[in-house]
Amino acid sequence: MSDQLLSGKRVLLGVTGGIAAYKAADLCSKLAQAGAQVDVIMTEAATRFVGPLTFSALSGRPARVDMWTAPGGDPIPHVHMAAAADLAIVAPLSANTLAKLALGLADNLLTATLLATEAPLVLAPAMESHMWSNPVTQAHAKTLRKRGAVQVGPGVGRLASSALGAGRMAEPVEILAAARGVLARSGPLAGRRVVVTAGGTQEPLDPVRYITNASSGKMGVALAEAARDLGAEVTLVHAPLAVPGPYGVERVSVRTAIEMRDAVLALAPATDILIGAAAVADFRPADPAAQKIKKTPGQAALTIELVRNPDILAEVAALRAEIGRPAVVVGFAAETQDLLANATAKLAAKRLDMIVANDVTDPGSGFGSDTNQITLLYADGRVEALPLASKGEVAERVLDAAVASMGDGGLAPG
Ligand code: CTP
Repeated sequence: MSDQLLSGKRVLLGVTGGIAAYKAADLCSKLAQAGAQVDVIMTEAATRFVGPLTFSALSGRPARVDMWTAPGGDPIPHVHMAAAADLAIVAPLSANTLAKLALGLADNLLTATLLATEAPLVLAPAMESHMWSNPVTQAHAKTLRKRGAVQVGPGVGRLASSALGAGRMAEPVEILAAARGVLARSGPLAGRRVVVTAGGTQEPLDPVRYITNASSGKMGVALAEAARDLGAEVTLVHAPLAVPGPYGVERVSVRTAIEMRDAVLALAPATDILIGAAAVADFRPADPAAQKIKKTPGQAALTIELVRNPDILAEVAALRAEIGRPAVVVGFAAETQDLLANATAKLAAKRLDMIVANDVTDPGSGFGSDTNQITLLYADGRVEALPLASKGEVAERVLDAAVASMGDGGLAPG
């Protein structure tokens, strides 16, 4: 996971009373691991669920509860913590504290600090479903959203009452993604649209069988996350993924190459950067059977006729020649031999600004691996070999290179 955004940031983490407070400990740990300096403020009620010591240990800084004691001799901690914060998160946010925030009450250290801060606010409400659906709670939540607070969740799930309903706190990874999204607002891709394709397309033979490949979608998901963390509005157009999808990213789920082509071309006119990381099947069964294909007694072989699929990036290049969008197009070349020669040929044939070449026979670079060793080839002839790195780090490098290309107004297609 990238630390670029959170490293060195001052994050105020407010924890209010609710069983989900135990999950806030995980959130605190994740923030601290990402390099953020986390100041935890708990309400009295929160301490009934988890002790301040837990948060102090996880953040490496004293977790505070009381407005009237001054740890470290600071008589006005709410003012200093409020001023220092780059971001404030309240997770879990109870109905009671939510109402106080909407009304501007400041009757404890947390609400006083939040009233005093100008930091952006991420809220993760968690409560019993009737409390959440109550019009008064809904009105307060709407007020806070209108003032710019980012609300994450609540989700539907099993609640403390053991009932199923809306009111379950969003997962820590989801809250972390929202926090990253807020911090990325001033990133180099703020206001830009990035489309990433991911996964291996599935080409049906009959209703239950299909042709596909070994792509896990990991690289595409990492690229979508990296683009999101630079402030972009990201759409991930993906075939079935073998990994969890990214948070804070719009998703368009497709199955076949034709569906992926249609989705990408529909988005292209509004796309600044397109990254084609999907492993698109070059051929599909010519005539998929409407019913499950049955073998006949004594049948020794089955021949399936395949026809060519559209080349998505080549079609994007044709469209770009007409409308000038996307500004930057990046392709991938997954090769098993003649890496640079094949990648150079694809760069030219698909009229790309940049191609990311990797040898999928390398132990650290194959499909499904967590790492990748890539070489970037640019339309202007530059070649840049990067060291073996995690797919997250590789994604950051690819995005940095795409941003640099866009800064030039997009490199001339080859
Ligand atoms: N690609 C595409 N449409 C296709 C096939 C590939 O847009 N029908 C894109 C991929 O997303 C990738 C790049 O083109 O960004 C190269 O994909 P790759 O499968 O390596 O190359 P192909 O063009 O399919 O060439 P070959 O299979 O002959 O190596």
